[in-house]
Amino acid sequence: MSHPLTILGIESSCDETAAAVICDGKIVSNVVMSQLIHQKYGGVVPELAARAHETHMIPVVTAALQEAAIEKTALHAIGFTQGPGLLGPLLVGSCFAKALACSLGIPLIGVHHIQAHVLANFIDEPKPNFPFLCLTVSGGHTQIILVKDYFSMEVLGETQDDAAGEAFDKIAHLMGFSYPGGALIDRYAQGGNPQAFTFPATHMAGFDFSFSGIKTAFLLFIQSKTPEFIKANRADICASIQAVLVRMLLDKLTKAAQKSGMHTIALAGGVAANSYLRQQLKQLAEKQHWTIFIPAMAYCTDNAAMVAITAYYKYPLKEFVGLAAKSFPRYPIG
Ligand code: KG4
Ligand code: ZN
Repeated sequence: MSHPLTILGIESSCDETAAAVICDGKIVSNVVMSQLIHQKYGGVVPELAARAHETHMIPVVTAALQEAAIEKTALHAIGFTQGPGLLGPLLVGSCFAKALACSLGIPLIGVHHIQAHVLANFIDEPKPNFPFLCLTVSGGHTQIILVKDYFSMEVLGETQDDAAGEAFDKIAHLMGFSYPGGALIDRYAQGGNPQAFTFPATHMAGFDFSFSGIKTAFLLFIQSKTPEFIKANRADICASIQAVLVRMLLDKLTKAAQKSGMHTIALAGGVAANSYLRQQLKQLAEKQHWTIFIPAMAYCTDNAAMVAITAYYKYPLKEFVGLAAKSFPRYPIG
């Protein structure tokens, strides 16, 4: 090949319109446009998300090509999120990717959103060796995944109700924070006492999780307190609920690591941006003698760099999809 293998990644599964360029395995641009329109509704409105992707897709892709200082004619392939995600948003990304690939006469690579979150661990050095366990925690998923190879992943356990990010966001809503409030719990918990209040952790069989009970416990706690009390104790409340959520995640991860004999552990997904989770995992790793991998913040929450790196690993396998490829709102990883 005369010039570096250059791939454009496009992400549009939920409320981030994102594009990134990867050149010979190095991310050379990463542009994310977060849709703020959903804040006033307290959650993502699928039709508004699709319309916002429609508006922002071309400017975001143009910005990614400019930041990478390449012409679109230099692209060898286009990777796009094929699922899982919201149907309308996925369709906007896939139709745009197909049109661009068709006009340039280059192949299309369908990317699984959760595989992409996991493979975000391969963007920077050092990269994990296979096999490893990945705790994948986002707004839609909470899974412990046994990663045997780039595209061979097995879900060992997952949430039976809310995802961890969803629990963070719903708890943040009860605290009166704007959507998505997960990062605000993290911010307001700084300096708070994680032992100030106790909330009951839910224990599930095997490697599964459940977050609906703790959400209800938190609702009852809020209803039993005055607004003045909540305001005066905001840091302690946020630190305490965050500590329970993180403990639930790490207890299950420890159990899965012990049962599977894995010592290489990775984090992925939007909740992996949580500073307490990152810090607690580092402490746990020392105790358990784990080698851990945590993507840079920008590669935890939804982004297209993770789509681009996934497409980069798929390209040599020639696993291309045709122009009639469908989007999959539900898309099992296995
Ligand atoms: O991976 P992601 O960007 O989108 C999905 O694929 O769902 O994850 C978004 C989730 C949201 O629930 C958001 O509140 C949560 O990640 N999140 C955080 C933090 N940053 C993002 N949760 C806790 N602490 C954070 N710092
Ligand atoms: Zn995601």
